[in-house]
Amino acid sequence: MISKLRIAAVGTVCALLSGSVAVAGKLEPVALRCEYRANPLGVDETQPRLTWRVESDARGAKQSAYQILVASSPESLKRNTGDLWDSGQTTSSDTVNIAYAGKPLASRQQCFWKVCVWDADGNAQWSGPASWTMGLLKWEDWSARYISFRDSTPVWKDTQKLFLPAARQYRKAFTADKRIQRATIYSTALGIYELYLNGQRIGDARFEPGWSDYHQRAYYWTHDVTSLVRRGDNALGAWVADGWYSGYIGFGLLTGIGTEKIGRYTYGKTPALMAQLEIEYADGSRETIVTDRSWKVTGDGPIREGDFLMGEFYDARKEMNGWASAGFDDSPWEPAILAGENGSVPATFYEYANPRSGDKVEIQGRPVDLGFKRPAKLEAFPGLPVRAIEEIKPIAITSPTNGVYIFNLGQNFAGVVRLKVKGPAGTTIQLRYGEMLHPDGRLMTENLRKARAIDHYVLRGDKDGEEWTARFTFHGFQYVELTGFPGQPGKDAITGIVLHSDTPLTSGFECSDPVANRLFKNVVWTQRANFLDLPTDCPQRDERFGWTGDAQIYVRAATYNADVAAFYTKWIRELMESQRPSGTFPGYAPYPFQHGWDFGTAWCDAGVICPWTIWQAYGDTRIIERCWPNMVKFLDWRRATSRDFLGVNYGNDWGDWLSFGGKTPLDYIDTCYFALSSRLMAEMARATGKHAEATVYRELFSNIKAAFNQKYVKPDGSLAVDTQTAYALALYVDLIPAGLRARTGKMLADKLRSGETADNSGMTTGFLGTRPLLPVLSDVGEHDLAVRHFQSRKFPSWGYEVEQGATTIWERWNSYTKEKGFGGEQNASMNSFAHYSFGAVCEWMFFRLAGIDSTAPGYREIIIRPSPPSPDSNPAREPINWVKAHYDSVRGRIESNWTLKQGRFELTTVIPANTTATVYVPAKDSADVTENGKPLAKGAGVDFLRMEGGRAVFRVASGRYRFASQSRP
Ligand code: BGC
Repeated sequence: MISKLRIAAVGTVCALLSGSVAVAGKLEPVALRCEYRANPLGVDETQPRLTWRVESDARGAKQSAYQILVASSPESLKRNTGDLWDSGQTTSSDTVNIAYAGKPLASRQQCFWKVCVWDADGNAQWSGPASWTMGLLKWEDWSARYISFRDSTPVWKDTQKLFLPAARQYRKAFTADKRIQRATIYSTALGIYELYLNGQRIGDARFEPGWSDYHQRAYYWTHDVTSLVRRGDNALGAWVADGWYSGYIGFGLLTGIGTEKIGRYTYGKTPALMAQLEIEYADGSRETIVTDRSWKVTGDGPIREGDFLMGEFYDARKEMNGWASAGFDDSPWEPAILAGENGSVPATFYEYANPRSGDKVEIQGRPVDLGFKRPAKLEAFPGLPVRAIEEIKPIAITSPTNGVYIFNLGQNFAGVVRLKVKGPAGTTIQLRYGEMLHPDGRLMTENLRKARAIDHYVLRGDKDGEEWTARFTFHGFQYVELTGFPGQPGKDAITGIVLHSDTPLTSGFECSDPVANRLFKNVVWTQRANFLDLPTDCPQRDERFGWTGDAQIYVRAATYNADVAAFYTKWIRELMESQRPSGTFPGYAPYPFQHGWDFGTAWCDAGVICPWTIWQAYGDTRIIERCWPNMVKFLDWRRATSRDFLGVNYGNDWGDWLSFGGKTPLDYIDTCYFALSSRLMAEMARATGKHAEATVYRELFSNIKAAFNQKYVKPDGSLAVDTQTAYALALYVDLIPAGLRARTGKMLADKLRSGETADNSGMTTGFLGTRPLLPVLSDVGEHDLAVRHFQSRKFPSWGYEVEQGATTIWERWNSYTKEKGFGGEQNASMNSFAHYSFGAVCEWMFFRLAGIDSTAPGYREIIIRPSPPSPDSNPAREPINWVKAHYDSVRGRIESNWTLKQGRFELTTVIPANTTATVYVPAKDSADVTENGKPLAKGAGVDFLRMEGGRAVFRVASGRYRFASQSRP
């Protein structure tokens, strides 16, 4: 389809235009990305993919061709010499994920690139320049060694007391005696770390290098430090803490699993650091400073404890000024050792094992060596850094008891605080964190379980005051309790610092119902609170795991709210790597230890659903290719465990987790998910040219559907399993024969309707059933009911939660109630206030209510199908009558703003350049529809296609359109 024409003159045509200012109507290439990131450093894809967006304010703007130039220097690029790659003028409308196809790229290569695009009339426009650099592609590129401190502590075995070692500081002084051209540092750790050069922090990421299964794979990071290295004396410094490698993680301590049943030392006992600073001098010579035995280390610095779950203890009296600068006296520090020199550390690792017979899972111990092991693979970090994204000021301070002050930040989130204080040296302030308060004003921490979530700060006694922010922990909280503060704190004593992976936010949603607007904010805040290096279930208690069920439920909504392509690229590697020997995927990834069975239905299917969704949202077929062997193995496992194409009824019994009322049997759910995974496999096979496999998986889906129908579907369209979730899932997965679909759908609607009472919404679905509920209702002709339910304030519903004061999405619909507080049905220890699963409704808000959807991966073909509910469809409140929404897709911003007032429907929609859209306008007849105030026949770029289900359907090219229809059917 893509034809490549090398036209000699092209470079010149584009060159003449280079640097020209965009002209109205012009097609302009912007937002250049390499592997989804702007100007990334240290890429290790040998054919990195390049993406840009084209923008134009003209209707129907299209890219007819592009030319990519990749040069080894900015000067060559300026001269339009693509000495690494010149794609030539390529006839194509592609703008997303175009794989580099130039000269082989070596380690450290600098690549400068730009793209020229041609519009339909042959006008050309260059982008501005962008760049990427290659990382260290081979082990041999590393001369650095993993280093550690001499660790003589015995393996901790006490499950009653915590073991929280000090974070270590490492340093190395060096001299750079010539003019510096470029300096780059490559680094990684078993543990988490921060680097400093001449006293300056390198980069601004938190928790480098991210969580992976450190035995199998570790990530390294690349930073450009050219501006930090000086001619003359220099020093490198590093802070290293336990992090995910050897600190407390998940519910290990709570459930008595992991190393010695204490839930820490999961991957090894002693953190280790590896860094390699490469200096290129102006004279062409090079020098490399690497971690080795010449480094010094101390554990006598201010961070006495630094642990994700437990918190940080910072004694400012122990600060060592200038420790990461030249000239510091490090003679009291110890020499660092090579990590392996700590020797082997025998211990016992406990985790569950699948039953050999029956269904009893039991904890079993096995010997492990906690000594240093070099990760099998070292790869460039492909995700996005966790950063401080936003600051929040307290809205109130209360004092439940003397000397105890609670700061209310007004918003539940994940992060840390900046403490500002003035007082005598040695004063110790304790900071505790909670998401809620008890009715008597005390901090509620019961739901944190074994996550201590307490920080301490000991003042150094600076007469000008002092400030502190924790480095190696984070908390999920809205409230911060200070004890021991010298005097009475003002509001400026605490500032909330919001931390999350820096996934650019991409959505906006407002409508006529203020409760829905708050709900939207809550969804986005919950996503932000849980997208911290990996998609976690919750940020506060002792879990913070990449729960796969939650991930597959929410991933589609996530793609609306942020550009999560790089973020999931990283996590999906962990997901693939966590695949069990049997072929199934586990309940969470990374998978540090087995809890219960090593799979649960619907959780395991994340291994197919997540890659599929990333492909859909970003047009990414490479993720399919990369995951394909694992996904095939998973489907093989599914086939091998299934009998007669039906699902299994064993494994972790999470099922429709947190549902109310009747239970949906595991094997029913498993049959639905078996079918869903098969269907998605068929689609992915087709998209990647695996035609034979596409047929195999399509047939598999048909066989499962047939078996499902035989076992569960009755002739009248009712189902043998009588729960809302059973109906919602079957319809969602397309297991109901076409002829029965409407009837089955109506039965689901009737269930919801008939369950409604004065104080109950009638909804009984849990994690698995809630996600498809509204999409399916809207789809089967019950959209009014879907919207009515969406706007409900009755328990259980989204509105109910908002009316109870939620600022994030709760794990349970009744995590807290104004009447009963935390007391009542729910279990305080399983009661997170920031769990994104029920926020999956957000996808329906976008694709159905606002009507922003797509029929081709990567939003090449857009659907605009706003769906206003009938004006008289809700006796309790005004049905939503306007929506204003946008989504920044990989091809540009899509807008859908509609109003329905007194029978007049108006829609303003924006379709990005280089795409087309099918627009559905509610109308009795196409003649009722105007565009930009004119009858349609005259609307440029608008083609009427057909009437369909009370809507006039149009095909439009890119641009802004204002449709109106006089009446609504
Ligand atoms: C997590 C969930 C998860 C579940 C499995 C919980 O502890 O927080 O979100 O999916 O376990 O049922």
